[in-house]
Amino acid sequence: MKYHIATFGCQMNEYDSGLLANLLESVGCQVTSKKEEADFIFFNTCSIREKAEDTAIARISQIKSLKYKNPNLKIIIVGCMAKNKGKALFKRLPFIDYVIGPDHYKEIPEIILKQKSYQRVYTEFDETENYQGAYAKLQTPYSTSIGIQRGCNKRCSYCIVPYVRGKEKNRDPLDILAEVQSAADRGVSEIMLLGQTVNAYHKDDFSFATLLDKISQINGIERIRFTSPHPKHYNDELIDVLLSNSKICNHVHLPLQSGSDAILKKMRRQYNVENFLSIVERFRNNNPLYAVTTDIISGFVGETDEDFEQTLEVVKKAQFDNAFMFIYSPRAGTESFQEKETLSEEEKQERHERLVVIQNEITMQRNKLMFNRNEKILVERPSTKDPDEWVGKTENFKKVIFKPTKIVHPGDYVVCHINDIRGWTLRGEVVGE
Ligand code: SAH
Ligand code: SF4
Ligand code: F3S
Repeated sequence: MKYHIATFGCQMNEYDSGLLANLLESVGCQVTSKKEEADFIFFNTCSIREKAEDTAIARISQIKSLKYKNPNLKIIIVGCMAKNKGKALFKRLPFIDYVIGPDHYKEIPEIILKQKSYQRVYTEFDETENYQGAYAKLQTPYSTSIGIQRGCNKRCSYCIVPYVRGKEKNRDPLDILAEVQSAADRGVSEIMLLGQTVNAYHKDDFSFATLLDKISQINGIERIRFTSPHPKHYNDELIDVLLSNSKICNHVHLPLQSGSDAILKKMRRQYNVENFLSIVERFRNNNPLYAVTTDIISGFVGETDEDFEQTLEVVKKAQFDNAFMFIYSPRAGTESFQEKETLSEEEKQERHERLVVIQNEITMQRNKLMFNRNEKILVERPSTKDPDEWVGKTENFKKVIFKPTKIVHPGDYVVCHINDIRGWTLRGEVVGE
């Protein structure tokens, strides 16, 4: 039996697809990259913005004809849209077989291999399901993500995540350490820890800081990353570990959302601009090249011109290395969905575009600071444009293109002298291993 998984959405979904892959392989299924060859096609979906759901539905619709060619094919919708839309998906996509939410993946082999009745929905939350002992398939042989927390206890007024992922569940630290150890034993040197408010992680005596410290002691682990921390959950203990432990990378993805205190309050973000900037300042005071990336929403309900100008000001002050910038998308079920939007689509789009222009310029300026430096690069893959060139990442998460001086493999580390920066592209010359 062959399976294919198409994944949409955030890194949490990528990780869950890896969990699902291992669960399927444990009962003898084999992966295929071709949907036409598959007996089971999974769509691991996202609901964060309306467009995410529309894209998934369009992609699922495209494979309807495969079902006629292979009547035994089963099409299974998993992930956040499965939870969000539930059985309504059978109306929209009558040819699909199962709709399975994020707390029911362990049951999937049983459901798809043994059950004869189709069009069933498994989407209730299970507050006890933490996937204890179920590790995810490695994303690459050298770098992989590890889920340490599922769900979210915040109630940001625009956000659907708590409604589709449920309450925060922190995973047993020993189970996490065992998964990291098993990845390290297979050659992984870079770990990305995942949670919606990852730095709020706590379980028994383990804080996030303790967990980071223990992971850094695992032989073979060279780079530790995590996403997404919440500005409210930084304390001195955590900042000390982040700045003093050399295995924790000098890059943080710290979502700002808005640069207006009034909007942050309406968003129920639990911090203000001053708190946010003081965290950025602590990283940058320690190391001016410390990379800070962010998420920003333009055009939230009630966002005035002045609020938006404040966001632009904070963006300039914070000097983000990069940003994911989104247009506010009202999500049914969330608090801010109740409120009538104050801006037209064009106005939201226009603000978004102004922000993108300013941030792109800052991104280029931040990249320029890397010029003339020697940087340790984790080698990823040959470049798609020129197979003689390879691509890798610096510790502060910048992509570097270089020409190897001898044979390199994905997962190697090389030292590059950054000697050319054009637009977004950093190039380097190998000067050591
Ligand atoms: N847990 C993370 C965010 C996860 S969602 C955090 O709190 O930072 C990823 C990003 O999607 C958010 O940071 C936000 O910028 C964006 N987002 C969430 N809901 C949205 C909505 N309704 N419209 C537009 N963007 C949204
Ligand atoms: Fe959504 Fe807020 Fe939770 Fe992030 S912290 S997942 S934005 S509710
Ligand atoms: Fe999307 Fe679910 Fe992630 S809604 S952003 S896939 S947690």
